[in-house]
Amino acid sequence: MCKMNKNILLLISTMIVSLTVAAATLPQSGIDKHMGVASCAASQCHGSAVPQDGSNVLQNEYVTWTQNDPHAKAYQTLASDQSKAMASRLGLRSATTAKICLDCHADNAPLARRGERFQISDGVGCEGCHGGAERWLSSHYNVPTVSHADSVTVGLYPTDRIAERAELCLSCHLGNDDKFATHRIMSAGHPRLSFELDTFTELWRTAGRQPHYRIDADYQARKTSPSHSYAWAAGLIAEGRQRLALVMGPKFEGTGLFPELGLYDCHACHRSMKTVQWQALSRHGGAGPGVPFLSDGSFVMILALARSLDATAAENIEAALTALHIAGSTNIVEIRAAAGELDDRFSSLQRRLSVESVQRHEREILQQILASGAAAQFIDYASAEQAFMAVQMLVFELSDTALEAEIGELADSLQDDERYRPIQFSRLLAKLENREE
Ligand code: HEC
Ligand code: HEC
Ligand code: HEC
Ligand code: HEC
Repeated sequence: MCKMNKNILLLISTMIVSLTVAAATLPQSGIDKHMGVASCAASQCHGSAVPQDGSNVLQNEYVTWTQNDPHAKAYQTLASDQSKAMASRLGLRSATTAKICLDCHADNAPLARRGERFQISDGVGCEGCHGGAERWLSSHYNVPTVSHADSVTVGLYPTDRIAERAELCLSCHLGNDDKFATHRIMSAGHPRLSFELDTFTELWRTAGRQPHYRIDADYQARKTSPSHSYAWAAGLIAEGRQRLALVMGPKFEGTGLFPELGLYDCHACHRSMKTVQWQALSRHGGAGPGVPFLSDGSFVMILALARSLDATAAENIEAALTALHIAGSTNIVEIRAAAGELDDRFSSLQRRLSVESVQRHEREILQQILASGAAAQFIDYASAEQAFMAVQMLVFELSDTALEAEIGELADSLQDDERYRPIQFSRLLAKLENREE
């Protein structure tokens, strides 16, 4: 159970709020020219074959990226048979030239902002994340004369700051007002998207044999590098708020019966009619069977986080979430109003989040998630997947060796979203919960 004492509350409210720093402009919409991956790839720059020990940075980022980074292959994916089939179903001439695909599968800067060495076929290249290099390319390596912060003022995207990193990754891994993998795109054969900032950062950073960057004392002195649990918590709230912004925003106005089916839980509609796994979840406000609900995997994790940090905030979030689900099958005006209410709750929790507050409650957060799981609260695949990523991160943060051994079994149970069995998942979490005690 959650115990909240006054000291903790006080502490949370006086913590420095790192999430409210003025947001930077996303690389794709920045004012700077994108100079192209080739501009970064010289061997004395980021194209070294092996990591350089005497340098702040590894200098082999280009090699790591070409060999191991999924983003380097994002454009080639658009030439695959799967993409060709998708393009023809969507009536597009080619996926490799369609803006809706390039916006996420490449560094699709406007033509006027592409330098001579820029190539769209590079996929999500360095500047797709680090920002157009026009103003910082020739100066950013003059350390210590030119600091990281100096480069940020001339267009380097602050990928080290969690709020900005979340916004960047989410722009493609969830979508934003400029780009979104709609239900139409999904229906044409696009894989369902899922995201959790900490898990995905680590998956990506360590893909293949060598990491994209190393977090050592030198790195920590130059940049912000918060704990995994903070990246998880802050990333979740960023995801939750961006999801609500899509529900509230103008992008999908008047496009159909619902705000946009891509924002609903896929398996609320796509499930076999023979397996009745519907259960009146309390968080769906008893909306009743046959009613589609908004995808709320990240919301449910935010609720577990809030329960550990602040009981009152948790109650408010829970009430607002239930209201959103009830509104979710009424009309767009009510849906927007309810989304706005939940967003306010998230925003107030976000303002009070700090590295220390999350870190101190890691064990409690884990227990909250396991208890919800044991109580069969993760009926839908999207929340089970979020629960898995959270449990995995927390178990490793807490170096809980007894539980580490169980992670594999948990992962196996989520291999295929179409075959997800909520009861089995619930039993596994109950087993972990018992080990915990
Ligand atoms: C410009 C869009 C874009 C941005 C920004 C972006 N990604 Fe991606 N990411 C993609 C695409 C597209 C793919 C799929 C590549 C493919 O297989 O074609 C991908 C793949 C991945 C994968 C592999 C997923 C899997 O199932 O194997 C990970 C992990 C990942 N991204 C993490 C991140 C993280 C972390 C960030 C932020 C630091 C980020 N991405 C930023 C577009 C983007
Ligand atoms: C909002 C961003 C977004 C848009 C728009 C988008 N994609 Fe993707 N796409 C992704 C991400 C992110 C992934 C990786 C998903 C993962 O593995 O988590 C992906 C994965 C894929 C995959 C599977 C790749 C693999 O290795 O299995 C294909 C194929 C694909 N996209 C094609 C397309 C095509 C064709 C279009 C345009 C019609 C398109 N995408 C539009 C973000 C997007
Ligand atoms: C998917 C997004 C993404 C892509 C693509 C990407 N990076 Fe990064 N990069 C990051 C993130 C996130 C970090 C870690 C945060 C930070 O240090 O700013 C990082 C860190 C770095 C660092 C800093 C290491 C340090 O110790 O300060 C360098 C150098 C770097 N990247 C170079 C490159 C180069 C060169 C390319 C292209 C070959 C590239 N990156 C492509 C996201 C990306
Ligand atoms: C409100 C109900 C609803 C939700 C929620 C929903 N879909 Fe659909 N989906 C449909 C309907 C209706 C069709 C068209 C009929 C059909 O093809 O089965 C469809 C079609 C599809 C198809 C094509 C199926 C085929 O056999 O051609 C795919 C793939 C798909 N949806 C994926 C998704 C994904 C991924 C999500 C979650 C992001 C999702 N859907 C959410 C109702 C829904």
